[in-house]
Amino acid sequence: MEQRNRTISSSKPESDSKSWSLRPATLSDVPALEKLIPLSARTLQASYYSAAQIDRALGPVFGVDRQLIRDGTYFVAEEDGRITGCGGWSRRGSFYGGDGDGKDEDELLTPGVDAARIRAFFVHPDRARRGIGRSIIQSCESAIVRAGFTRVEIVATLAGEPLYAAFGYSVTLRDEIDLGNGLTLPVVRMTKTLTGPDFG
Ligand SMILES: CC(C)(COP(=O)(O)OP(=O)(O)OC[C@H]1O[C@@H](n2cnc3c(N)ncnc32)[C@H](O)[C@@H]1OP(=O)(O)O)[C@@H](O)C(=O)NCCC(=O)NCCS
Repeated sequence: MEQRNRTISSSKPESDSKSWSLRPATLSDVPALEKLIPLSARTLQASYYSAAQIDRALGPVFGVDRQLIRDGTYFVAEEDGRITGCGGWSRRGSFYGGDGDGKDEDELLTPGVDAARIRAFFVHPDRARRGIGRSIIQSCESAIVRAGFTRVEIVATLAGEPLYAAFGYSVTLRDEIDLGNGLTLPVVRMTKTLTGPDFG
């Protein structure tokens, strides 16, 4: 497993005034998302993963899952008509991955029994640390509670771990996704219980 120096993505911009808004993603956003996701991964994950790991993960691990868009559980941040971030939650079983050719429809989870998933957060490198991830996670958690789920699980990248940790997600397992060709992607399984006064 390759360890990288963590320097690039940890700096906070001086101005973080909110200039974007969130809305549910639509299928017409897919071409923009297909550009944003590789750009975000290649830049903001560069201090956590090698270029080879990121290249190999794009598609099977990092990608657009149209099922989330069809379910109405995927959000985009938009600024002057440009998509600068995306992320969502899922009422279905998969933890990660795009909807590459031939993927079967993901099974539905049971609210109150299963944990909902948080899925596929990607922010434009120029817009990192301005609260887009924060805003999407808050929208996801509200929607997850409205849907009747009380627990959330994530398979997070190392780049995503600080965001989720800041929102009270705890690490349950440090794991690796097999990328083939002898490459693996270190990931973190994290969980949070959404109960109590904030989530009543
Ligand atoms: C992870 C990611 C989505 C975070 O998005 P973001 O919009 O930059 O995050 P926010 O600005 O909303 O951060 C909210 C809080 O999370 C924490 N946080 C987010 N990114 C952090 C980082 N790189 N280092 C330390 N803390 C971080 C901080 O507490 C932050 O609050 P603060 O800025 O007031 O200190 C973004 O870095 C990204 O797209 N990474 C590449 C793709 C990826 O790996 N996504 C995760 C998939 S599981």
